[in-house]
Amino acid sequence: MQAERLQKILSRAGITSRRKAEKLILQGRVSVNGEIIRELGAKAVLGKDDICVNGKAIKAETEKVIVALFKPRSYVTTLDDPQGRPTVVDLLKGISERVYPVGRLDYDAEGLLLMTNDGELAHRLQHPRYKVPKTYLVKVRGHPPEEALAQLQQGINLEDGITAPAELHILEDDKKATWLTLTLREGRNHQVKRMCAAVGCPVLRLRRTQIGPIDLGNLQPGKSRRLKASEVRALRKAVGLDG
Ligand code: URA
Repeated sequence: MQAERLQKILSRAGITSRRKAEKLILQGRVSVNGEIIRELGAKAVLGKDDICVNGKAIKAETEKVIVALFKPRSYVTTLDDPQGRPTVVDLLKGISERVYPVGRLDYDAEGLLLMTNDGELAHRLQHPRYKVPKTYLVKVRGHPPEEALAQLQQGINLEDGITAPAELHILEDDKKATWLTLTLREGRNHQVKRMCAAVGCPVLRLRRTQIGPIDLGNLQPGKSRRLKASEVRALRKAVGLDG
């Protein structure tokens, strides 16, 4: 068996994403054969070495599961909320595996959230290198002028750098607001809200409708479903895993 980096082992075993696994290591919460490891380069062999997180031994998760959830507004995208607000985990019915949210939707945002115990897949879906498109249905205050629409599509200088090219379609507008779809290939925190605010049109409603090949479809708010085998294949292909 081949030695692998600890963060890779932890994410593959379904413990958490690779990025979060790195944090666990740096925080001194991971041990190998009884010794706390704090370096990100450290390697081990799952099944041979005794690898523990918070003192608890990990074992390889056999079955990988991917769940699509329609996150309603007023739910937090974490496993546990210190403020006691309802979390997306409260909505999962009939899923016995420990699955983790892939990225985040804001408390007041709604729509498609994927949850999985496949750390590598989760990592790739979020990493800008894999450019997985995420589409949002957005209601903004007012009517963005042509120049603002062009800026949203071409790139906006936010405090963490210029945004990558995005696709935008205007759906409809009324007296006070405009509905549009925005497709991004990166996933920074509050990105849609920050982009729209930067062109003077704050977001009033935000719903994610698509992640790569997976569509919200007619899933109802608060409901979840396991992805079909064909969807899993398409999703894995979209991030360069399998074929
Ligand atoms: N962009 C945002 O501003 N919020 C989200 O929840 C997702 C994308």
